[in-house]
Amino acid sequence: MHTATTAHTDVLTTEFRQLHQGLNQARLSAGDGWRRLRDGAYLAHPLADAILREPIVRRARTKPRGYADDAVLIDHFYDFATVPAADGAVRALSETLVTFPAARSVRWRRDHLARTIDEVAESRPGAAVVSVACGHLREAALSRAVTSRRLGSFHAMDQDAASLAVVESEYGRFGVTPVHASVRDVLTGRTRFEGADLIYSAGLYDYLEDRVAVRLTARLFSMLAPGGRLVVANFAPSLSDIGFMETFMDWNLVYRDADDMARLAGEIAPHEVGARTHFVDGPGNVHYLELVRA
Ligand SMILES: C[S@@+](CC[C@H](N)C(=O)[O-])C[C@H]1O[C@@H](n2cnc3c(N)ncnc32)[C@H](O)[C@@H]1O
Repeated sequence: MHTATTAHTDVLTTEFRQLHQGLNQARLSAGDGWRRLRDGAYLAHPLADAILREPIVRRARTKPRGYADDAVLIDHFYDFATVPAADGAVRALSETLVTFPAARSVRWRRDHLARTIDEVAESRPGAAVVSVACGHLREAALSRAVTSRRLGSFHAMDQDAASLAVVESEYGRFGVTPVHASVRDVLTGRTRFEGADLIYSAGLYDYLEDRVAVRLTARLFSMLAPGGRLVVANFAPSLSDIGFMETFMDWNLVYRDADDMARLAGEIAPHEVGARTHFVDGPGNVHYLELVRA
């Protein structure tokens, strides 16, 4: 039965989608005027009040861990049951928000990483795996190699001690070792992993300026065993959420296209690279660079 309440929710959801789309079109056409537009007119939109009360938006804006997309927020994309309850209208916004392209790509990324871990475990028995900026390491739960303890080692590195506590309590029993360290620790050599079969990083490069990203790529690549694989993910500038993310979530990322991804390998000697792959994810919003050490 279609009730007045569901009809109201349908209208709200449609308006929310239109606003989301409109913001992205505005961003693309406004050029230098985008910042003014973003901070002014759109925050006065009739839906703005409800959007700002929506729990995922609120968490991104208030940044309890210091940045927008902490592991708790990413969990909301992975599992809707984790999204805090809200009144009907706001709940409808949450339901819509988790269907937006960025959320779909985050879920795709998790599946892809779990598959990659399993592939590497299959081809390299006793594989050593490292996740850089692991958050809650949710891909671990989807990897048969992890849950059946077929890896030689799995180091999960993050700067966020609270996220690592979740990793320890949920995946420690599968042999995952949390490592409390930052990108700076890796760049200075304070934190080092040797002879890894797979090193991957998802949700980190989107925060790194080019100089740091290029240095980090070379450093991580140097930690691979011969035949080992480095996988790096980064949101694309074509992501249609950017207008909404910047306006309402204060979620500002470094976006990279295919050429930018290729440049990440700029400090690695070409003869050290046995294979190089670039691809875009299924939903079409995240670039992946994969480098295999010769
Ligand atoms: C968007 S989350 C991604 C988590 C997870 N990899 C995933 O795909 O769901 C980004 C993670 O990067 C971590 N991070 C951000 N900057 C970092 C830095 N400089 N050093 C280490 N970790 C960092 C954050 O603590 C956070 O857990």
